[in-house]
Amino acid sequence: MRYQPLSAQFYIENRKNLVGEIAEDSLVLLTSNTEFPRCGDTTLPFRQNSELLYLSGIDQEETYLALAPWHSNPDYREILFIKNPSPEKIIWFGHRLSKQQAKELSGVRTVMFTEQFPDILQDLMCHVQHVYLHLPENPRLRWEPITREYRFAKQLMEEYPLHDYRRLAPLLYPMRCQKSAEELQALKHACDITTKAFLRAAKAIEPGKYEYEIEAELTYEMIRNGATTHSFAPIVAAGPDTCILHYIKNDKQIRDGDLLLMDFGAEYANYAGDATRTVPVNGKFSPRQKEIYSSVLAIYKETIPLFRPGMTIHKINDFVFRRMEEELQKLGLLTAADIQQQDPAWPAFKKYYMHNTSHFIGLDVHDVGERDWTFQPGMVLSCEPGIYVAEEGIGVRIETDVVVADTPINLMPDMPVEVEEIEALMVK
Ligand code: GLY
Ligand code: MN
Ligand code: MN
Repeated sequence: MRYQPLSAQFYIENRKNLVGEIAEDSLVLLTSNTEFPRCGDTTLPFRQNSELLYLSGIDQEETYLALAPWHSNPDYREILFIKNPSPEKIIWFGHRLSKQQAKELSGVRTVMFTEQFPDILQDLMCHVQHVYLHLPENPRLRWEPITREYRFAKQLMEEYPLHDYRRLAPLLYPMRCQKSAEELQALKHACDITTKAFLRAAKAIEPGKYEYEIEAELTYEMIRNGATTHSFAPIVAAGPDTCILHYIKNDKQIRDGDLLLMDFGAEYANYAGDATRTVPVNGKFSPRQKEIYSSVLAIYKETIPLFRPGMTIHKINDFVFRRMEEELQKLGLLTAADIQQQDPAWPAFKKYYMHNTSHFIGLDVHDVGERDWTFQPGMVLSCEPGIYVAEEGIGVRIETDVVVADTPINLMPDMPVEVEEIEALMVK
């Protein structure tokens, strides 16, 4: 395996916690993520869905997990169904888990091949009233329902219309939000690789190179350190594109005098790192770049200590929004009158700071968890203020990942961030 898996005990605990939350006479059913076709017989790289990972650790396509804790047959209370690879399939796609390996990884005692799933499902369904299924839930995002999870839910409800179907997400998401010690280790590892990637990339930056050459340095350092992939499409944006929040083309030549904004993160053991640094391409910030950078840096440094138990993303935003108003006035970008006369529905600072300051991080880079959830020790969030002055072609964002604690823990303390540190790093 490319990464050190978390212990079976972690998954056993997660299943135990979930079973403690569900109604009696219930069945929990999860299916693996879709293998998205690319063309011919090739697929896009497979990424397991985070719910099945969280409850089983099985990082393989064509998998089902069934939890039926009230079943009279103890062997049926937890069952994992895995793909039974034919010898021809192995020739093309290589090794797949044996039943014994799946058992050791997940701690599930009963492992079967998926061809047994329909018959066993019939037995399980005849012994329960309620069925918990997962579909992704995010109040701000709606995807076209094209996934295997969605097809599975639809088919089940058609074949067994008399059951009471329930949502797994409201039970599972608060659990996923609270990271265990093992998860924090995996996140720390992802962040360590992310730091190494930045250090390598920063040394390679110089006028005349292309953005994708810097992306390649990030990728090289991540993969050679055991990351599976980027935890999201990396942003390597020079000059005016530093102000494009989701710029991922990374195809331009980098010019002397530009800033380069890199927003990137390594994925290790399916856990996401997420960092941003903004650096001067020629190794020295211009006076105006330094002014704007210093404003963002001041807010960044003041915000990290706020990731304490009892806070929420809304409260973090409230603090940052007020500080933005002050810094944007100092930078000559807003006046007191602009703020007094602003439309409360679209405050003046939004012209230069249009995103939020924080999101939860874990198995997904934008992990489950909502903006009004109260921070508890062990939750992990990004801290990412920025100022984007499109008319000057200067965008600055600085981002790290923070563990909630009385003294919040920055997971990337060794990634240079001070003006002098960045300039020193880039000396050729
Ligand atoms: N690049 C994703 C984020 O920073 O939220
Ligand atoms: Mn980011
Ligand atoms: Mn982020």
